[in-house]
Amino acid sequence: MKTYSLPGPVTEKPPAQSGHMKTDGAAQILGGRKQSLIEDARRERIGSGSAGPSPGPSRFGDGSVFEEKDGRVTLNVLFALSNEKNSGFFQTGKIFETFEVKLLHMESRPRKKLKEGVSDLEFLMRCEVQRLDLDVFINSLKRVADDVRTVPEEKAPWFPQQIKDLDRCNMLITKFDPDLDCDHPGYNDSEYRKRRAAISELAFRYKQGDPLPTVEYTAEEISTWRKVYQQLRSIYPRLACRQFLDGLQQLEKECGYGEDRIPQLRDVSAFLKEKTGFQLRPVAGLLSARDFLASLAFRVFQCTQYIRHSSSPMHSPEPDCCHELLGHIPMLADKEFAQFSQEIGLASLGASDEEIEKLSTLYWFTVEFGLCKQNGEVKAYGAGLLSSYGELVYALSNEPEYRLFNPEETAVQPYQDQTYQSVYFVSESFEDAKMKLRKYSASIKRPFVVRYDPFTCNVEVLDQPSKIQSALSKVREDLKTLHSALEKLASS
Ligand SMILES: [Fe+2]
Repeated sequence: MKTYSLPGPVTEKPPAQSGHMKTDGAAQILGGRKQSLIEDARRERIGSGSAGPSPGPSRFGDGSVFEEKDGRVTLNVLFALSNEKNSGFFQTGKIFETFEVKLLHMESRPRKKLKEGVSDLEFLMRCEVQRLDLDVFINSLKRVADDVRTVPEEKAPWFPQQIKDLDRCNMLITKFDPDLDCDHPGYNDSEYRKRRAAISELAFRYKQGDPLPTVEYTAEEISTWRKVYQQLRSIYPRLACRQFLDGLQQLEKECGYGEDRIPQLRDVSAFLKEKTGFQLRPVAGLLSARDFLASLAFRVFQCTQYIRHSSSPMHSPEPDCCHELLGHIPMLADKEFAQFSQEIGLASLGASDEEIEKLSTLYWFTVEFGLCKQNGEVKAYGAGLLSSYGELVYALSNEPEYRLFNPEETAVQPYQDQTYQSVYFVSESFEDAKMKLRKYSASIKRPFVVRYDPFTCNVEVLDQPSKIQSALSKVREDLKTLHSALEKLASS
C-alpha cells in the first residue's frame, strides 16, 4: 500500500479540461486575446518582464533570429486571410508544399475586425524549412496572405521568475482523480467526490499572497487521519531518519500535530517559513512534474488539502493531506533537505521535457522514496515511504534491492507508481546527495544560469554581465560578514 505525490510519467498529457488548468504551449495562444498571435505567443513565452533565453546564431532579414540545425530552421509563421481571400488558404498550402515545409503545428482564430462585414482568420503555423529557402518562402506567403510575420522557435520552455508566476504553474495530471479513475476508493462515493471537489475549489481560487484557505474537517475525516497517524507514528522511531523524527517532534510541540486534529496549511506554512523559508500553497490534485518542480525553486511546496477515502486509510492512489503533512512536511523543516529540494527545483527551470523527466525521476527516488545511511543503519527520508505503512516496512526489510544514490543512474531508473518500488536508492547523507545533485544539475544543457534571490523571492537569469556583477557584490558582502565573524571569534 502506498501513497505518493508528484510524478506520474511526465510525458503523459492531461485530458482536456475546462477552467482551472493551465493550458500549455501553443494552446495558450488561443482564447480571446486582444493582441496578435505573434504578440500573444511572445507574451506567453516571455511573460511579464522575463528575460528569457538569448537568441540563436542565424539571422533573418526582418531582425528575427533563428536557430539552425542541419541547414533547417524551425519557426512560427503568422498570417491573416480574409473572406475575400478564401482561395489564399489553398494557395498557402501550395507554397508550403513547394518549399517542402514540414508542418509541426497549426491553429487559427478570428481576427479583430478591420472593417464591417469582413471576418478575417489568423493562422499560426509552426514549421521547419530549409534556411536557404526562408526569404523566398516568406515572400511567397506575403503575396497570398496579409500581415505575414515570423517568430523564432523558443530555445527554452517558459518558467516562473517571480513567485506570483506560480499562479500559472497549476497544470493537473488527472491520472488518479476519483472522478476518472475507477480504481480510486472514492470512485463510487458521490458524497466523497463532492467533498473533494469543494476542497479542491479552494486551491483553484487561490492566488499567490492570499491567506491560505482553512478546511473544517468532518468527524469522519479526522477519524481517517487518526488511523493513519497512529499506525505510522508507531513505526517511525524504528524506520524514519533522524531529521524526520526531529521535524515531527517539533511539529507536535509547536504546530499542533497529533492524532486528534488535521493540521491546517496556514499553521504549517508559518511553521516552515520560520524553520527553513519554505511555504505552502494549496493545490487541487496531482501536478505536472514541470509545475511542481518549478515551485520548489521558490521554496514553495504545493500541498493538497483533501483527505483519502475513509474505506482505505492506509492507501491513497493520489497525494492527499496525510501524504503531504506526514510524509513531506517534517522533512521540509530540515535546512539541509530544504536546500536539496530547492536545488532540484532550480535545476528544472527552463529544462527540456527530457531533462524534466529525468529530474522528476530523481525526485521520485529521493524526496518520495529515498533512503539514507545513519549510524550504520538504513533509514527512510522519502515522503512516499513515510506516509505509507506497507511500503515503509517493505522498503526497510531485506526484500528490495538497494543501490547507492548516483544521479546519472537514478535519473533513468524506471519507477513504479502503482506498486512498491523494486529498487531503492540509498544516500550516504543529504549533504552527499546535494553535492551529487549539484554536479548533475550543472550538466543539464540550458543556455543560461539561474539564481534565486531570497530578498525578492525572484529567480534571476544570469545572462548579462551586469547581473553577474550584482550577484557577485552580494556574495562579497556575505563574505565580509563571515570574515568579520571569524575575526571576532579569533580575538575572543
Ligand atoms: Fe509527494
